[in-house]
Amino acid sequence: MSNEGVDGGRRRFLTAATSVVGAAGAVAAVWPFLASLKPSAKALALGAPVAADIGKLEEGQQVIFVWQGLNIWVLRRSKDMIASLSQVRPRLADPNSDYSQQPEYCKNEHRSIKPEYLVMNAKCTHLGCMPELKAQHPDVSVDPDWLGGYLCPCHGSRYDLSGRVFQSQPAPLNMMVPPYRYASDTMIIIGEDPKKS
Ligand code: FES
Repeated sequence: MSNEGVDGGRRRFLTAATSVVGAAGAVAAVWPFLASLKPSAKALALGAPVAADIGKLEEGQQVIFVWQGLNIWVLRRSKDMIASLSQVRPRLADPNSDYSQQPEYCKNEHRSIKPEYLVMNAKCTHLGCMPELKAQHPDVSVDPDWLGGYLCPCHGSRYDLSGRVFQSQPAPLNMMVPPYRYASDTMIIIGEDPKKS
């Protein structure tokens, strides 16, 4: 909402209030009420973008950052891991990520801006548990044909290494990719879209 809209709304509200109870009393009564509608500093901080330093992340490593109360993974994928993404396609429920679980600029095979780095909400789309990264392959404890991915410990949903859910799982959707942009090669800003050039 623009400031103009807020001010316009405020003006209309003040005008209506003053016409009922008189000018001096109205301002005193209305401002505390309007102030209580403003988001608190804590709420603003919770929604603020988060700078994620990925400079020391090694291939195959994953770290967690917290943004808006969500656990956001950053996984640095190896060449092998990236190659697995096209190999698992026939077994996925939504291989093209058609169901809006990512910003438009991440609607691609790797579901990320750069193939090497996956940025994703660490939350199963079934009932919200945190899946585990199972990077080893094959891994007969998961699946004899396992090429690496995520396994949810609650009811067994499986996802590939870009968070796309396999067919016939309890989870209905791919995991969510938040908005983010690169401030530099080693710094990601989670919560902000890339700047338009
Ligand atoms: S919460 Fe992940 S499979 Fe149920």
